[in-house]
Amino acid sequence: MNKKGYFITFEGGEGTGKSTQIKLLADFLEKKGVVTVLTKEPGGTEVGQDLRKILVTGEPDKMDAVAEALLYYADRRIHMTKKVWPALEQGKWVLSDRFADSTVAYQYYGYNKKIDKSILQDLYNLAVGDFKPDLTILLDIDPQIGLSRSIKKAQGMQVKELRHEGREMAFHQNLREGFLEIAKENPDRFAIFDANQEILSLHTQIADYVMKRFGLI
Ligand code: TMP
Repeated sequence: MNKKGYFITFEGGEGTGKSTQIKLLADFLEKKGVVTVLTKEPGGTEVGQDLRKILVTGEPDKMDAVAEALLYYADRRIHMTKKVWPALEQGKWVLSDRFADSTVAYQYYGYNKKIDKSILQDLYNLAVGDFKPDLTILLDIDPQIGLSRSIKKAQGMQVKELRHEGREMAFHQNLREGFLEIAKENPDRFAIFDANQEILSLHTQIADYVMKRFGLI
């Protein structure tokens, strides 16, 4: 692939404010003259929307971590080939609300390491190859605060995407520690921000960081 744009991913547990922050960053970049594509996983494509419904609604135990990982990777493969890679080739910046770190955090750490981590690496190699994000922004928050935000938000939705929220608190604690662990293993790719703060002040910190990182001053 002849990549001309940048790929920035946002990660974090439930209710960190990712979707709000990613939109604010996309608007900010557009004002700077950068053409952006705002997307998400699961559900960044039409087929992905169907997979998303299967994955994020219904009973927490309707499938296990391996089945989930396969479906998240099916979504990811379609997302990469149909949307992310073509946009990057056109010089656009792609901002994705979640990517592969979510699979390691949720399906490996969240489930208390019940599946073999190497399965996830094999799926990554198969679906994504040696491509990876240029920057991953991790929004970190105490899961008690995040979950109550997320449940409140779902009250206004027609389809309640609360499958993962239905899990016990230990799952969400594991998730938070998992994300921090992944960030520690990939210090050059990750930037961690405290998500328990006012929306605009967090946005300013993220925007400043991105400007410096990509030389947009
Ligand atoms: P969202 O809350 O960002 O809309 O994401 C949808 C849900 O899917 C969220 O609970 C996290 C979960 N998820 C995984 O479990 N594994 C993955 O690989 C991805 C991308 C999301």
